[in-house]
Amino acid sequence: MPAPGLFVVVEGPEGSGKSTLVRALAERMTSAGREPVVVREPGGTSVAESVRQALLEADHQVAPVAELFLFLAARADLTAQVLRPELDRGRVVLADRFTLSTEVYQVVGRGLDRNLVAAGNAAATGGLKPDLTLVLDLPPGVGRERQEAAGKALDRLDRESGDFHDRICRAYVAVSGPGIVHLNGTWTAERLLDAAWTAVRNVRPDLWRQS
Ligand SMILES: Nc1ncnc2c1ncn2[C@@H]1O[C@H](COP(=O)(O)OP(=O)(O)O)[C@@H](O)[C@H]1O
Ligand SMILES: [Mg+2]
Repeated sequence: MPAPGLFVVVEGPEGSGKSTLVRALAERMTSAGREPVVVREPGGTSVAESVRQALLEADHQVAPVAELFLFLAARADLTAQVLRPELDRGRVVLADRFTLSTEVYQVVGRGLDRNLVAAGNAAATGGLKPDLTLVLDLPPGVGRERQEAAGKALDRLDRESGDFHDRICRAYVAVSGPGIVHLNGTWTAERLLDAAWTAVRNVRPDLWRQS
């Protein structure tokens, strides 16, 4: 069943500007009269935050199927405890990553079966789908350069090979489907915010105060 709220997801490779855009978009939404519930994946519940720590710990070795189930366990808990209830209440939810990340990282990155991942996502979300998925496209290498420039402490996934990250970048550029809007991640943060905000208003023009 579609929820009465609005569910917007921001996706893209490491360093593509997801967290930056989520922060700015949340401010824009709030100014327009709707303060969003902001979540990041994996995370957002106490169990999901514990799973996040286990997944991102730089020293952990994780088998690909175990990694898949950990991401799905975190998503299932977040969906049941936060996303569904908030959307049913009519709230706007803004998420930093969701199901598309698993389709990209676990299928293209780890080589797991596409149908297994799709079935896992469906089970974890109970069929909940974003109304809008904003994909930040970035050429290979740019995200790593940004992380290095910012002095980011690299987590387990950041530390994957250049080839792994290049495949992730190419996979994101290639995705298409209902509710997916691509944005050029090399644009300035201001330009990205304006494009993202236009896409959000196109999906639900009725929600926002005119400014
Ligand atoms: N549009 C942009 N252009 C250039 N640099 C950016 C842009 N958006 C974010 N950054 C910088 O790139 C780095 C990664 O941004 P971040 O939002 O953390 O990406 P992600 O959450 O996708 O990993 C940060 O240092 C951030 O300040
Ligand atoms: Mg981030």
